[in-house]
Amino acid sequence: MKATALAHPNIALVKYWGKRDDALILPHQSSLSLTLSPLSVRTTVAFGEGADDEVEINGQVARGSERTRVLRVLDAVRAEAGGRPGPAKMVSRGDFPAAAGLASSAAGFAALAVAARAAAGLPADARASSLLSRLGSGSACRSVEGGFCEWMRGERPDGTDSYAVQRFDAKHWPELRMVVAILNRDEKEVKSRDGMKGAVDTSPYYPAWVRDAEEEVVRSREIIARKDLQALGELCERNAWRMHATSLAADPPLCYLLPKTLELIHSLKEQRRKGIPVWFTLDAGPNPVLLTDAAHEVAAEALARACGAIEVVRCVPGGDASLLTEHLF
Ligand code: DP6
Repeated sequence: MKATALAHPNIALVKYWGKRDDALILPHQSSLSLTLSPLSVRTTVAFGEGADDEVEINGQVARGSERTRVLRVLDAVRAEAGGRPGPAKMVSRGDFPAAAGLASSAAGFAALAVAARAAAGLPADARASSLLSRLGSGSACRSVEGGFCEWMRGERPDGTDSYAVQRFDAKHWPELRMVVAILNRDEKEVKSRDGMKGAVDTSPYYPAWVRDAEEEVVRSREIIARKDLQALGELCERNAWRMHATSLAADPPLCYLLPKTLELIHSLKEQRRKGIPVWFTLDAGPNPVLLTDAAHEVAAEALARACGAIEVVRCVPGGDASLLTEHLF
């Protein structure tokens, strides 16, 4: 009744930004991401331990909404396993640089889903794990498999057709690089969950965002198939700008960019003129992720540092979430 899984985070090339169902975490539009190695989270789950569920994340007892989100996933596993597994103990640990400003929740919930299903004796099933991890955090459903994963928005009100599938595996484009530039480590004032809700509820640009993102997912698939770095870079940049534009136009307006973010972003054009193929994407925070290739990752890191990055993490396409034989307790 004990299992451990490892999963990598992912960075969206076409972002998920807004829910049509807050409780089931169902998105308004599809999204597409790349799973990132070497960053990872390990999670051990054991059922039938203790009197009540115990949840520990990075050495701290989880409380409040963090605990509630984990219990939602564990409860769904218990229900699928016919209510047999009793109270659970879960311990999760990420190897992310301390407070790097990178969200580890996607990797954490993907590892939790895979470990909890195995601990409950349920068969390994990527679709089931993707559906399950989505209940913890939407973007987590794209971290169950490696390479390029597409979260299909689905149509059904119960969410059973809203999960991610792998479009290309990690070996498809091994020269691709994502360079995370940490410009600021402060905890952001508005979490993704609240930021996207503000955009859905109040941004006049929101319907246009949904239409556009759905079309960009289809285009991104075709661009990734032919490994066209320039076309993917351009798509990533415009999709990030459009996501941020929905929130800039929300009421109250929401701006995640800092002066240094803009400085780095603006410097990329000049780099490209010099022949360095580098583009950016930006999640709900101030830290850009630079898209480039293996031959230019050192130049991309140098650029990030020159623009004030306090930490830089160079990533390559990552693999599937997997079960490990060594446990955390
Ligand atoms: C900007 O998946 O963290 O990173 O579903 O509310 O837990 P919840 O949100 P979350 O949001 C991710 C938003 C994003 C874009 C993306 O990863 O697609």
